[in-house]
Amino acid sequence: MNVLELECSACGRKYDASIEQHLCTCGKPLLARYDLRRAAATLNLENLKSRPRTLWRYAEVLPNDPTVSLGEGMTALVHAERLGASIVCGLGGLQHLFIKDEGLNPTGSFKARGMTTAVSRAKQLGAKALAAPTAGNAGGALAAYAAAAGLPAVIVMPADAPVANVMECQAFGAKVVKLNGLISDCGKYVAEHKDREGWYDVSTLKEPYRIEGKKTMGYELWEQFGGKLPDVILYPTGGGVGLIGMCKAFDEMQEMGWIGAERPRMVAVQAEGCAPIVRAWEAHQSSAQFFPNAATVASGLRVPGPLGDLMILSMLRQTKGTALTVTDDEMLHAGRELASMEGIFAAPEGAATVIATRKLAASGWIQPEETVVLFNTGTGYKYAEAWQRALQSAGGGAL
Ligand SMILES: Cc1ncc(COP(=O)(O)O)c(C=O)c1O
Ligand SMILES: [Zn+2]
Repeated sequence: MNVLELECSACGRKYDASIEQHLCTCGKPLLARYDLRRAAATLNLENLKSRPRTLWRYAEVLPNDPTVSLGEGMTALVHAERLGASIVCGLGGLQHLFIKDEGLNPTGSFKARGMTTAVSRAKQLGAKALAAPTAGNAGGALAAYAAAAGLPAVIVMPADAPVANVMECQAFGAKVVKLNGLISDCGKYVAEHKDREGWYDVSTLKEPYRIEGKKTMGYELWEQFGGKLPDVILYPTGGGVGLIGMCKAFDEMQEMGWIGAERPRMVAVQAEGCAPIVRAWEAHQSSAQFFPNAATVASGLRVPGPLGDLMILSMLRQTKGTALTVTDDEMLHAGRELASMEGIFAAPEGAATVIATRKLAASGWIQPEETVVLFNTGTGYKYAEAWQRALQSAGGGAL
């Protein structure tokens, strides 16, 4: 087993990784720890050249269970020259703007990364049924990987989640429970039913292995930039697992001697209608308050009470990053820009990072010579409702 032990992200308490584990007794998430010296002996740019083009190429720093894989990871890193040139930054535009297109993953979002590792591990640990609350995309990914693993899945989502997410879960054979509420209400439902029903809880950060899949976004950036990391990473933050995962990857890389203490400045982008992390950041707080009446077209950003708030805020501080909001109208507008200038049909969450870049470049926080990576976390094909609104408001007429 590659994972030596699990360690609490808040209090440091250690747990046995060879049995099913969820949260620490203090209520905070657990992180997987490896023998990184051993990993570094075989994991390097040269060896990576001949490995399969999935995230499992980083095997030494992942749980080594028999994998339930659908070909996830190694998504394109697109040089967005036209979009970069259109961003006002100093006297010219941004020449080194890149988009990591996570919409190219199985089930159309970066959620596939977390689910390949979590479902592989759950199956190995003997799980009989998998359950998770979801804003939409995580449910689709869990349902797909559960089907690939031959396990039943229960997906609990808000009744107003994008219709494509409901359909994909049903097509993958999962049981879908729709609730009139937010993802936080769906989380309560799973917590209340899991013991009685015998479900293995795959909720965000409530098991330690989704982070492990998500962290590979950080490893891929390093590999795709030829052994370097960018200056700035903009990430649409809901539960924050991708942001936490990438920062964990950077710490592991430093321990393996790949990089020094320098880090990309991490930027958490949230929706104006649901911004618990941004509000806490602006108030210089180390934890976030529950965000009341959360509402945004970017369903993945509608996470009013993220469990990883302490980690997210501390990583923003440690990397000298920042956090900012964008409105739904800005996201929909930016989605059209990204599509028409770069040929990328993005989720509103991904489009949000374009507006955030414009704002940070205009204020001088991003400098013209810097290498900047935007995460398009999902494909626009899942967001028929949002895109209909975007195209109508652009004068496209009735669809
Ligand atoms: C497309 C998309 N982007 C971003 C997020 C937020 O992800 P994270 O939990 O890693 O912050 C989600 C979560 O549902 C999502 O579906
Ligand atoms: Zn703890």
